[in-house]
Amino acid sequence: MGRVIVFVALFGILLAVFAASFISLRSRIWATRELKQNHLPNCQYLKGIAYGSEDIAILPNGLALISSGLKYPLSQNFAPDVPGKMFVLDLEGDVLKPVELRISHGFDMQSFNPHGISTYIDHTDDTVYVFVVNHLHPQFTSQIELFKFLEEDNTLIHLKTIKHELLLNVNDIVAIGPETFYASSDHYFTDSILRIFEKIFGLAWCKIIYYSPGEVINAASDFGGANGINISPDGRYIYVADFLDSIVHVLEIQDNKTLTRVKAIHIGSLPDNIHVDHETGDLWIGCHPNGWKFLFYNKDDPPGSEILRIKNIHSEKPVVTEVYADNGSVIQGSSVAANYKGKVLIGTVFHKALCCDLH
Ligand SMILES: *[C@@H]1O[C@H](CO)[C@@H](O)[C@H](O)[C@H]1NC(C)=O
Ligand SMILES: *[C@@H]1O[C@H](CO)[C@@H](O)[C@H](O)[C@H]1NC(C)=O
Repeated sequence: MGRVIVFVALFGILLAVFAASFISLRSRIWATRELKQNHLPNCQYLKGIAYGSEDIAILPNGLALISSGLKYPLSQNFAPDVPGKMFVLDLEGDVLKPVELRISHGFDMQSFNPHGISTYIDHTDDTVYVFVVNHLHPQFTSQIELFKFLEEDNTLIHLKTIKHELLLNVNDIVAIGPETFYASSDHYFTDSILRIFEKIFGLAWCKIIYYSPGEVINAASDFGGANGINISPDGRYIYVADFLDSIVHVLEIQDNKTLTRVKAIHIGSLPDNIHVDHETGDLWIGCHPNGWKFLFYNKDDPPGSEILRIKNIHSEKPVVTEVYADNGSVIQGSSVAANYKGKVLIGTVFHKALCCDLH
């Protein structure tokens, strides 16, 4: 009997310790935030996109590339048996109609599970390189697929697959050359159960990896949950969204490719992908206003969406503005927002995609 009591007591203490760390460490994620509807005019769903539009990259000519159909641990998916897809949408066109991109022969489409994407234009010959983080389904390993985009044919030509032991579990990527990029690696463990613990307790083991064909290094460490990553228009700074700490980090690129921390901006919502407006330098961020609802999906009380914009990020007083918010009745789980000439595209982890006018 005594032993049972000791055991129960120990178990209770353990539970209390876990609960305390759970609450204190990451209370912001789990807290329910009342979301006020803050809609934009003339919103329309993008036709044919129903199972996610996790990341969006817009080329200077107005063509938006969209990754769709992500299957990810702890995240909802309404079409688990359908492979991932890439779409292109012409924002200069009269009708907003996404077209599925063909992928060149020989590429394994069945296991394609696209996540973060990034583009790089080689201005010597106008080649558009498209980098796609691919978590092979169902093994869930990480690799980067490098494609050449043939605009006239709506086709991606597969050039190569990039794997490296430091690219353990890549979330997002930002291309800085035809084969060179920074990537956020959002897990330490490879085991799926341990990964869940890692996420819940927010262990700060996420890293940013620099990859080039000649050199791969750990460029920055100790992020709670490194998610979206992007670069400033002048190429000097990297922005990293930390979704566990509700922070956007500004990091400076050093000559040796490591990244040093410049500042951290608390945004009060869980940031996912970051889009950088190349004219203004503003950051557009797809956010999860309520982590709990996102992780434990309930169709009667769905996760909402929030789009934030950060202006003057390098000044003394960056300005964070909520551009859009919805309680999940229109769009659920926004992961990205990319603006183009008075419009904004809103993408989601597992739901639809929306295009709205800015006021
Ligand atoms: C890279 O450069 C930075 C800044 O000059 C320096 O602090 C850091 O130690 C260097 N790291 C390596 C691995 O050389
Ligand atoms: C969201 O807000 C609308 C009002 O704009 C309301 O009708 C709807 O019931 C709300 N949905 C949820 C899931 O809270």
